[in-house]
Amino acid sequence: MKPVKAQITGTGMYAPEKVLTNVDLEKIVDTNDEWITSRTGIKRRHIAADDETTSTMAAEAGRQAIENAGLKPEDIDLVLVASLSPDMMFPATACLVQDKLKLPNAGTVDVSAACSGFVYSFSMAAGLIGIGLYKNILVIGSEVMSRFIDWTDRNTCVLFGDGAGAVVLSAVPGDSPSEVIDIILGGDGSGGDQLTLPAGGSKSPATHETVDQKLHYLKMNGNGVFKVAVRSMTDITQKLIDRNNVPVEKVKLVVPHQANFRINDAVRERLHMTEAQMFNNIFEYANTSGATIPIGIADAVKQGLLKRGDYVVMVAFGGGFTWGAVLLKW
Ligand SMILES: CC(C)(COP(=O)(O)OP(=O)(O)OC[C@H]1O[C@@H](n2cnc3c(N)ncnc32)[C@H](O)[C@@H]1OP(=O)(O)O)[C@@H](O)C(=O)NCCC(=O)NCCS
Repeated sequence: MKPVKAQITGTGMYAPEKVLTNVDLEKIVDTNDEWITSRTGIKRRHIAADDETTSTMAAEAGRQAIENAGLKPEDIDLVLVASLSPDMMFPATACLVQDKLKLPNAGTVDVSAACSGFVYSFSMAAGLIGIGLYKNILVIGSEVMSRFIDWTDRNTCVLFGDGAGAVVLSAVPGDSPSEVIDIILGGDGSGGDQLTLPAGGSKSPATHETVDQKLHYLKMNGNGVFKVAVRSMTDITQKLIDRNNVPVEKVKLVVPHQANFRINDAVRERLHMTEAQMFNNIFEYANTSGATIPIGIADAVKQGLLKRGDYVVMVAFGGGFTWGAVLLKW
């Protein structure tokens, strides 16, 4: 079988209307704008309204991506949703999105790889297109982080936000200048306890005690996570461009996960890249986990930063630990 080329044909994003600034947070926990800005680069985050959920935001981003690709709902063969904050344990959020968007021919599945979830989902989509099975796959990252963080814990609550991003990945002719070139996925399960939501699963089902102990909120060892994030994102980006003989100066844009501006700047320095090569929008959206990269891609497109044939890298790091990078020609 001859491999089929895949390329991004549509993008979309959604950020809730409500904005919570660092100054607003000063009224909630013992923090200040200066600390948050200098340690993380974050200035604002968007927070879902009461009637918004991971699936409603995913559907809006997905609707835009399908429209932007010039496709109809019946053209979509599969919906993949990356999320660590699904509407519920099951059915999968992808099923809810399929129903909301009325996608009659689409399979549905959620992917659980924390903040790397979008890169993992995208890789699976590229593989299914590559073997010639599917033509158009909707890949979404969507998160309502605000419902899974402890708003009394200043170590974590200042870092996260809500939002959704989506792309359509499509099969394209062999002579297309745009294509997904290569992918690296990796992880280290021994780091699982560094970034976790401890209760609510089969190991520790919900009880009054788990609720009292706040075990249904995200827990993180920030320093430990920081170091592994810088190391893994640098290593896989370098490996990906090296093994495809793409000199660093030829990379138009790296669209990295947005967990901390300092993480991305450290990665940029280690890769000897210019500031213009490293996309950042964390100041506006904070860390939206699995949604940061598709939001970043949609945002970069809106800003006119990408043109046909540009080398683009998407690189993620997240709980698990998980990491992954994609090299593509826009
Ligand atoms: C969390 C993170 C921003 C902390 O930054 P840092 O520079 O490492 O800060 P430290 O952990 O050393 O904390 C320094 C001090 O600031 C305090 N602090 C923590 N959060 C604060 C806040 N929101 N406001 C004010 N002070 C705060 C700490 O209590 C600590 O005080 P102490 O020295 O008196 O104990 C950083 O480690 C980080 O971004 N880690 C990675 C997070 C991440 O990537 N998560 C998701 C991965 S997908």
